[in-house]
Amino acid sequence: MYSLIVPIALSFFTKSAVAVPALITGTALPPQITQQAGGGLSNQPGTPKLSQNGINNFQVANFLENLESAFFQEGLMNFTRWGSGGTTNGVSNMNVVSHIAAQEEVHVASIVGLLTGNGAQDVQPCQYSFPVTDETSFFALGNIITSVGIGALIGLQSALSTTDPGIEATVGSILPVESRHDAFFRITAGEIPNPTTFETPISGIWAYNLALDFVVGGSCKNLPQSITSLPVFPDLGIVGYGGPSFATPNAPGELVFRVGQPSMMQQGWNKGTPLYMAWVNQDNVPAYTPVTTDANGDLHADVQPNMFGMAFAALTNQNTATNIDDLTKATLAGPIPIPLT
Ligand SMILES: *[C@@H]1O[C@H](CO)[C@@H](O)[C@H](O)[C@H]1NC(C)=O
Repeated sequence: MYSLIVPIALSFFTKSAVAVPALITGTALPPQITQQAGGGLSNQPGTPKLSQNGINNFQVANFLENLESAFFQEGLMNFTRWGSGGTTNGVSNMNVVSHIAAQEEVHVASIVGLLTGNGAQDVQPCQYSFPVTDETSFFALGNIITSVGIGALIGLQSALSTTDPGIEATVGSILPVESRHDAFFRITAGEIPNPTTFETPISGIWAYNLALDFVVGGSCKNLPQSITSLPVFPDLGIVGYGGPSFATPNAPGELVFRVGQPSMMQQGWNKGTPLYMAWVNQDNVPAYTPVTTDANGDLHADVQPNMFGMAFAALTNQNTATNIDDLTKATLAGPIPIPLT
């Protein structure tokens, strides 16, 4: 059960800056990308009109898709060093990844076109640092990054549902594409491609915080206010695991968490008020397990039982928020993705 957790722990502790090759971004797509992606930008005339709320949310989506696109373009370049990349069920891994990289470029181009067509600022890519050393860690991180992207797209649909319902179907048409990517990564790791009944939505703010783990500090230029105004939470890392306490009957185990930047926490955050680990999985209301602090200041929490696929955990000091947006407002640190099944 815990074998997949290693890449997350790595992502938490490995943050060295690396040189990043030149990336293809924006709407100026090289002609071969359309072939590689299996289709280019939509040829529908005009640009759908976005509300200000829609613009803000698509700027965040632009930030996230830039990261995904960079990850897969960089990974594709790495494949040439790793060798042919092998096959999965007789299909060339390199061929799949080149499709993914091209599809992400078209997604970025579509969002950039949507924003600029509405007279809004698009979002320039930052520099990124990924804790990838070989093909296996690339696929494992691909699973995490894609799951975050999928959760964020569902959150985006929810955020657009009242102000911009006309664009929801377009967002919906990206979701299964991302899900096919994720299914592929799961199969490369010997996991079944379809672990859950529902996908797990996350808020744009959570997705932004998850993305920041891979962004080289100070490398983002000219970000719009919709992004610079988002709250930044300290990281939550996993430093150990053990058997469950008696607090949560049937818990599959206990995880030990550590706040990455305690100086970002409010004075006295771990004294007095009860702390909880919030667990978000599928379409369920957030669940909470009590947190105990050990002598090192590390945080012990039982894993909420009956979760499947990818869950997200965040440190909070309340156990009453019943939806992801309210939980986001009450987040003290994290979130962190927890691959379970
Ligand atoms: C590509 O390889 C470099 C050098 O090993 C590594 O630092 C980087 O994280 C890799 N990136 C991806 C996305 O595979």
